[in-house]
Formats: sequence, C-alpha cells, structure tokens
Amino acid sequence: MNKHLLALQDISPTQLRALLNRAAVLKQETASGIRHQQLAGKSICMLFEKPSTRTRVSFESAMYGMGGQVIFMQARETQLDRGEPLKDTARVLCRYADALVVRTYGQQVVEELARYSEVPVINALTDLHHPCQILSDLMTVIEKKGAPEQLKIVWLGDGNNMANSWIQAAAVLGFPLTLACPEGYKPDAAILESACKIATQPITVLQDPLAAMQDADVVNIDVWTSMGKEKEKEERLAIFRPYQLNADLLAKAAKDAVVLHCLPAHRDEEITEEVLEGPQSVVFDQSENKMHMHKAILEMLINDTF
Ligand code: CP
Ligand code: NVA
Repeated sequence: MNKHLLALQDISPTQLRALLNRAAVLKQETASGIRHQQLAGKSICMLFEKPSTRTRVSFESAMYGMGGQVIFMQARETQLDRGEPLKDTARVLCRYADALVVRTYGQQVVEELARYSEVPVINALTDLHHPCQILSDLMTVIEKKGAPEQLKIVWLGDGNNMANSWIQAAAVLGFPLTLACPEGYKPDAAILESACKIATQPITVLQDPLAAMQDADVVNIDVWTSMGKEKEKEERLAIFRPYQLNADLLAKAAKDAVVLHCLPAHRDEEITEEVLEGPQSVVFDQSENKMHMHKAILEMLINDTF
C-alpha cells in the first residue's frame, strides 16, 4: 500500500518519532562526511503552485544528496493550467517519478493526487497544513531544548497552516501546546477538535499574547499574511500588531527561550530585527534542518521503510 505525507494526524507516533530520529542521524552522518546514496536511481517530481525558497531547495538538495534526481515544475507551466484533471496528472507523473512533492492551495488537491498516485505524495505546504516544516521545526526544538513533552511551546499570531500542523504534531506526539491568536484568526476548528480528541496533553488556544508567552521555552512565529491572503494584508497588519515578537514580549518568556520562524520573515511586522537577529533566534539552524528532515522523509517514503 502507498504511504503519503499529507498531514501530521495521518501518521502514527511511531512514524513521527522515526522521522525525527532518522533526520538527526542523517544530519550527523552528513556532518561527518558520509555521502548518502540511498536514493541512487530514484527521482522525485516537484509540482509547485506557490513560491518557495527553502522548501524547494531543501527538497532538491536532499534528493541530490542521496544520489537521486529531481524534476521541478511550476504548476502553471503544466497542462493543469489548461484544465487537465488532477487524477490524470497523478496517474501520469507517478509513472515517471518515485514520489511527488506538491505545494498548492487546497488540501483537497494533495488528497486527490494521493488518491490516484501509485507513488508517495508529500505535502510541501497547502493553505491548511505545512507538515514537513513542523517536522523539521520539531527536530530543531529537540536539538536546542530537548523533549517537547517537558517544554512550554508557544505559537503566536495567525492560526494558519503552520499552526494547524503544530496542533496535529502536539496531538500525535503528546506534548502540550499553547497558541495565542486574534479573534477571527484562530486555527481551523475541525482540525483543533479532532486533535483534542486524541491529545494526551492540553492544546490551549488563547487570545492574549502576554499570557501565552509567560515562561515559554519555545516561541514560534510566522508571517501575518500567508501566501494567497495578500488582499487582506493591510487589515491584518492592524489586527496582528499586538502579536509582534519584540524584545518586550520576548522578555515574558523563559530567559533561555528559543525563537523559531519558518521564514520568510517580515522584519518589524511579525518580528523585530532585534529579535530575529538576536541570540535567542535559531531560525537559520531551523532552515538547515529542513534539508535533513526532507532527506529522512524521502528516504523512508521512497524506500518503503515508513
Ligand atoms: N519555510 C518555508 O516553507 O519557506 P519557503 O516558502 O521559502 O519554502
Ligand atoms: N504561513 C506561511 C508559511 C510560509 C512558509 C504561508 O503559507 O505563506
């Protein structure tokens, strides 16, 4: 049976832990000069409908770094743009590649591709989820602060795709999570409800950023205007202002708290230059970990050890 990575609640705690462990080993091996070849002779097809710097290059680098090949396509340059159905696209592309890595708007797009693809489909961001990012962010949290079960992990700002995937990660792995989001910008209600049903630790959604930040060990921040929401930018700038991660707000967290931002960052919107460039920011280690995590994801899905 095919295995896909579309959302974190679809995978088991064992699979999630295996990815975290494997990514850490691959990172260590890469640092010690080991050249990976596990995916020699294999290829991935990347189909992207939204812009990307990190996710695209880290997947490409991960695949090449394991001896594989990459075919990258902007969705608008394919026949999808002229109306070819997803179900035909999936059944064609899976004849050419060993996995499909897709960045798009609707979660239903990756689900439809997965339904028809005979090779794994990997969600590289939709409006609803960003599972691969949260896997590498968890890797960063573990590296910097240890087991997430022992930490106060906070999400600040928009209840967007990243927030939804953090909620699912907390439910699957069993760690507490505190979110602070403005009214009208809470995480997806159905995702939250379903996660809370399986969660063994509290997933708390607050409105007050100061209350959420109290004694935080890990602070996660993201853009206020996600891709596809550009028309709402001005209105969001005003609503999200109290959620800006600046030195005053960061001072509420534990002294040794770390700051994560999946990037790209908008300085002096969701985060100040001072905090982003400050000693508590781990954003570039976080970016690096995307490549190691993507190696683990590709290896386990393509070589069927997931
Ligand atoms: N963090 C992240 O997904 O970045 P890109 O949009 O550059 O891929
Ligand atoms: N929430 C952001 C993440 C970017 C990597 C977006 O969807 O644009």
